Amino acid sequence: MIRIQLEHLDKHFGATHVLCDFSLDINPGEFLVLLGPSGCGKTTCLRTVAGLEQPDAGCVLLDDRDVTQLEPRDRDMAMVFQSYALYPHLDVFENIAFPLRVRKLAVSYVERRVKEAAERLGLAALLRRRPRELSGGQRQRVALARAIVRQPNAFLFDEPLSNLDAKLRVEMRAELKRLQHDLGVTSLYVTHDQAEAMTLGRRLAVMKDGVLEQIGPPEEVYSRPANLFVAGFLGNPSMNFFPGRVDAAARAFASEGIAVDLSPEPMARLTDGASVTLGVRPENVELDRQPRDGWIPGRVYVSEAMGNENLVVVRVGEHSLTCRAAPEMQLDFESPVWVRFRPDRLHFFDTSTTKALWP
Ligand SMILES: Nc1ncnc2c1ncn2[C@@H]1O[C@H](COP(=O)(O)OP(=O)(O)OP(=O)(O)O)[C@@H](O)[C@H]1O
Ligand SMILES: [Mg+2]
Repeated sequence: MIRIQLEHLDKHFGATHVLCDFSLDINPGEFLVLLGPSGCGKTTCLRTVAGLEQPDAGCVLLDDRDVTQLEPRDRDMAMVFQSYALYPHLDVFENIAFPLRVRKLAVSYVERRVKEAAERLGLAALLRRRPRELSGGQRQRVALARAIVRQPNAFLFDEPLSNLDAKLRVEMRAELKRLQHDLGVTSLYVTHDQAEAMTLGRRLAVMKDGVLEQIGPPEEVYSRPANLFVAGFLGNPSMNFFPGRVDAAARAFASEGIAVDLSPEPMARLTDGASVTLGVRPENVELDRQPRDGWIPGRVYVSEAMGNENLVVVRVGEHSLTCRAAPEMQLDFESPVWVRFRPDRLHFFDTSTTKALWP
């Protein structure tokens, strides 16, 4: 198990600043997920770790050894891509065996390793098929088998599940997590899918425009996002945001059509008159059909039944907010409702710096 450290990486493509003073420390055996929107530099980061890109500045360390100048083959990392990158003219067996054949390992050893990997990924019956005779999920398994067959230093995953349909993606996600746990190989997994990011990694790093925004266990990044970007990017549906102002005398937060009582705790982290943005996740908005004291009146814009829950979009003045309601809560368009934000689950952000305000 190796440790991977990225230290102050900087990378430009022409005028685009793709990695900005980017540092990341991946512990031995850890499964770290790097999450960010399209074009933020995830693939570039991964390719820099693999040695397929050279940074303009900064270095990559493997077990404290500077490998920045080392060729990809000397870093011994297995990359798994979204596109699978299988050899179409080779059958499944030979595709999996490829990294071992290149090393000219003994035939009997290759046979044993390929069979083990194929067994592990449920491909034993498909060894003589060509890639074009496989489903997308089976192809992705072949790509994974090829990655594990040679016992690499690390796995580098670049959105390996995004070409699969929704059901298969969820299945493979769980299998991948188990596989990495069983093999214990240090892994860096990049994705723009926040569900993958939440479920797969023991730690989650969120990036935007080449900058690392926050890193921590997924639950922590979800419950204590460092800024507006992280808060809005994690969670589906997204956190609701209301820009407004703090009124210390009234111990309240006010936004157009919305007033929230801030006694007693949140006031401690807020200053009078400050421009702050209130954030509330949909699961922390309570909803009732009856008027209730201190609750905010609104109207149903639309209600979407998901089976296990209803996602209700409520209009309050100029604002639109989403809440998760019980599946029994059937609501017509425009029906009057009252909402309340769970007082112990309020997020506040400085509107100008976008940074979270915590006690
Ligand atoms: N070889 C290249 N030449 C020029 N620009 C590039 C090159 N590779 C990437 N870029 C640019 O660098 C930025 C980051 O690209 P990168 O592929 O790392 O993003 P990403 O986070 O992996 O995005 P996606 O989620 O869409 O895969 C983008 O603006 C992209 O257009
Ligand atoms: Mg990419």
